[in-house]
Amino acid sequence: MNKINIDDNVVWHHHQIEKHDRGQLKQQKPCLLWFTGLSGSGKSTLAGAVEAVLFKRSQHTYLLDGDNVRHGLCGDLGFSDDDRIENIRRVGEVAKLMVDAGLIVLSAFISPFKSERKVVRELFEQGEFIEVHIATSLAVCESRDPKGLYQKARTGEIKNFTGISSEYQAPVNPELIIDTDKQSIEQSVDSIIEYLLQRGFLL
Ligand code: ADX
Repeated sequence: MNKINIDDNVVWHHHQIEKHDRGQLKQQKPCLLWFTGLSGSGKSTLAGAVEAVLFKRSQHTYLLDGDNVRHGLCGDLGFSDDDRIENIRRVGEVAKLMVDAGLIVLSAFISPFKSERKVVRELFEQGEFIEVHIATSLAVCESRDPKGLYQKARTGEIKNFTGISSEYQAPVNPELIIDTDKQSIEQSVDSIIEYLLQRGFLL
C-alpha cells in the first residue's frame, strides 16, 4: 500500500482515554482471536460459538466474518492473490481499531498467506494476536461443501478456489490448533475460553 498521507505533517494524537482504560471498563483485556483455515473448516461456526459463550459471560465482543465483510467494506475485492492481500490488510486495520476500542475481537477469514497473517500480527502488541488454526483437512471440508463451492471449483466454474486452485499456507506456530473433525464444537470452545482465562484476558 502507498502510505501517501503518512509524512512529517501528520502526527499521532495521544488521547486521554486509551485501550487499557476501555478494556478495564469492560472487565477484559482486549485481544484478537484470528481464526484461519480452509472454506468449510468451521471458522465461522466456532468463532460464533466462542462469541456466544463470551457474551453470556458479559464480555464485550465483535465478530468479523469473511463472507459478511465481503458484502460491505471489502465488496470491491475478489479472490486474486492481490485482492486477498488487500482484504486481510483492511480487516487487520479494522480489527486493530476494535481492539483499541477495548473489545475482544474474533475474525473468521481464510487468510491463506503466511506473510499477510504476519503483517496483521505485527499490528498488535505482544500476546494480543491469537492465531487459531482450524486445521480441518481439505478432504473433510470438501465432503462437507456447505455452500456447494468445492464442487463448482472442481468443475472450474469458480477460479482461484482455496485448496483446489489457490494455495493455503498453514500456520507454522499458531497459538491454538483445532480440527473440527476430531474435536466437538463444545471441546473446541472450551479450549479457547481456557486459553483466554489462563492468560488473563477475562477479568
Ligand atoms: S480470504 O482468502 O480473502 O481470506 P475470505 O475469508 O474473505 O477469503 O472469504 C472466503 C469465503 O468466500 C469462503 O468461505 C467462500 O464462501 C467464499 N468464496 C468465494 N469464492 C472463493 C474462492 N475463490 N476461494 C475461497 N473462498 C471463496
